[in-house]
Amino acid sequence: MDVVRIAVVGAGVIGLSTALCISKLVPRCSITVISDKHTPDTTSDVAAGMLIPHAYPDTSIHKQKQWFRETFEHLFAIANSAEAGDAGIHLVSGWQIFRSPPTEEVPFWADVVLGFRKMTEAELKKFPQHKSGQAFTTLKCEGPTYLPWLEKRIKERGGLILSRQIEDLWELHPSFDIVVNCSGLGSRQLAGDLKIFPVRGQVLKVQAPWVKHFIRDENGLTYVYPGASNVTLGGTRQKGDWNLSPDPENSREILSRCCALEPSLQGAYDIREKVGLRPSRPGVRLQKEVLAQDGQRLHVVHHYGHGSGGFSVHWGSALEAARLVSEWAHALRSPALKAKL
Ligand SMILES: Cc1cc2nc3c(=O)[nH]c(=O)nc-3n(C[C@H](O)[C@H](O)[C@H](O)COP(=O)(O)OP(=O)(O)OC[C@H]3O[C@@H](n4cnc5c(N)ncnc54)[C@H](O)[C@@H]3O)c2cc1C
Ligand SMILES: *[C@@H]1O[C@H](CO)[C@@H](O)[C@H](O)[C@H]1NC(C)=O
Ligand SMILES: *[C@@H]1O[C@H](CO)[C@@H](O)[C@H](O)[C@H]1NC(C)=O
Repeated sequence: MDVVRIAVVGAGVIGLSTALCISKLVPRCSITVISDKHTPDTTSDVAAGMLIPHAYPDTSIHKQKQWFRETFEHLFAIANSAEAGDAGIHLVSGWQIFRSPPTEEVPFWADVVLGFRKMTEAELKKFPQHKSGQAFTTLKCEGPTYLPWLEKRIKERGGLILSRQIEDLWELHPSFDIVVNCSGLGSRQLAGDLKIFPVRGQVLKVQAPWVKHFIRDENGLTYVYPGASNVTLGGTRQKGDWNLSPDPENSREILSRCCALEPSLQGAYDIREKVGLRPSRPGVRLQKEVLAQDGQRLHVVHHYGHGSGGFSVHWGSALEAARLVSEWAHALRSPALKAKL
């Protein structure tokens, strides 16, 4: 086999970053991204894109930290290059505040972000309801800018991007040798993976150009995340709720919670509502699988279930998915190994 034909299902931040990593890591392959929705209509376009990890209970902390570090270092280099604006990546400083002292003094990601420290008394004066807090600088990676930039990189490297809904993975056989499943919530129907469920998130994108610092409460439910051209105010976390329409009651409540933390937001204008469904799972599924049917084989790499923190770990987890693809591409090329697959 000369060229290994690889299909990546899904064009959110996970599918696109995986496709790009594969094109860099796997020699002599062709890459086709197949997705029913594309930017600006994916969950990844709704996300604030802040690099602050959410712990996955079923994925080891060691692995999560490695993914976060790789993602942070990769994006930090882009943020420090002439590409930063086109890629939609910038540094942002701010505060994570606590009503009661945090359960863990220092989170696992504290030495990956920049300048992590306890907030001073002077800083805490801004938040009379809160007793303590952490200050740090992290990165913001904006989906509606970053996804088109990834698509462009993939196309420059010869990849194809197609619009199509996949009902059954066998549709991709025999046109492709390896299928990478980055379908997010779509894997619930596609694969019958009942571990994955939606966690609905509603946010407001507002104009408040004077707000430059992020603020996040202890459980990440209420947040103010300033971006390049708007501020994201959040949020909600509604488990098992599939409703993609904005709820006016949610919006009122979000605005009042955010104004309680940042009173100047009372002057925010051009308020737009957005909703996304987080593809949540107890742990990210990153795994090879051989599907067999009527004597045929299909080589799949599953890569989905990034829940509330997909942006924070996407590059590290895409590198790992690309290594799994690379192992298979290598085996498919070697007749001796192929016989055993
Ligand atoms: C309100 C909100 C705020 C968030 N804020 C942050 C944040 O600040 N930081 C952070 O790290 N994370 C954040 N997240 C989480 C982040 O958005 C997700 O973890 C991430 O977007 C998941 O990416 P994904 O590519 O797996 O999924 P998606 O973006 O949903 O992409 C899935 C893709 O698969 C395609 N697909 C699905 N099924 C099929 C099928 N059958 N056939 C063809 N294509 C299919 C879809 O069309 C889509 O293109 C937030 C999420 C929400 C909702
Ligand atoms: C995605 O993964 C699920 C879970 O195993 C599987 O049932 C489904 O067929 C996969 N879909 C694609 C397109 O790879
Ligand atoms: C918010 O800002 C991002 C980029 O900074 C932009 O792509 C997006 O369209 C904006 N959204 C709204 C609703 O203004």
